[in-house]
Amino acid sequence: MSHVSKIKLSNITKKFVSSEMETHALQGVDFEIFSGDYVSISGPSGCGKSTLLAILGLLDTATSGQYFIGERNVSQLSVNQRASVRNEHLGFVFQSFNLIDELSVFDNVALPLRYRQVPLSDAQITQKVSACLEKVQMSHRANHKPNQLSGGQQQRIAIARALVNDPDVLLVDEPTGNLDSKNGDAVMHMLGELNKQGTTICMVTHDPRYADMAKRKLYLLDGVMADEFNLELAV
Ligand SMILES: Nc1ncnc2c1ncn2[C@@H]1O[C@H](COP(=O)(O)OP(=O)(O)OP(=O)(O)O)[C@@H](O)[C@H]1O
Ligand SMILES: [Mg+2]
Repeated sequence: MSHVSKIKLSNITKKFVSSEMETHALQGVDFEIFSGDYVSISGPSGCGKSTLLAILGLLDTATSGQYFIGERNVSQLSVNQRASVRNEHLGFVFQSFNLIDELSVFDNVALPLRYRQVPLSDAQITQKVSACLEKVQMSHRANHKPNQLSGGQQQRIAIARALVNDPDVLLVDEPTGNLDSKNGDAVMHMLGELNKQGTTICMVTHDPRYADMAKRKLYLLDGVMADEFNLELAV
């Protein structure tokens, strides 16, 4: 499957409304991710990083603005359409892994393949899962349950699951937030290697050391995107 060459957000806003208050989490974000990119998004707590990544992951919808995956406008999809676009184009890695403890490592990684519109044969599933477990160097734990693994290993399984449908972009939210520094460094090293092998990555982190590992660094400040140059002017 060939990848789209560009993912684009245009003038995205997100407003959370509760009975007491309105929060303007994103205030007109423009930004593009190109095939092969490794983008990091950093910024202080509450600046809108997770909100932005959830919108990119079609886990949440923007209040206004446009979102394009390739030529396709995905800003106004139904819940079911969003789920299908997400499964086909996007891989999401959460800070807290979100693996299913009742399923083996193999079955966790296979899960996104079972939701494909055109079903795969068992042999195709085994081939894809094995290839992804190999990419994250976890083939030897295929039959384990997630709770029998270290945090770093669980995050590697979560990355394999996000990669199994060969997404256009891997969206990663604070991948090391629940890890000690050794496991965190290993996961970050792995993301760098995956990018060298062609995986497009957009990662949120508040750790400047990890943000530096990306090819392109973006900053969010109070719901507005700034690049490094503007940030220096603003300080
Ligand atoms: N479901 C929600 N309802 C109301 N307000 C929300 C909701 N989710 C996020 N917010 C608010 O939107 C703003 C941005 O939150 P977000 O989680 O995107 O920040 P963040 O940059 O990811 O922070 P952190 O680094 O702490 O993870 C915050 O002010 C937050 O309180
Ligand atoms: Mg966050």
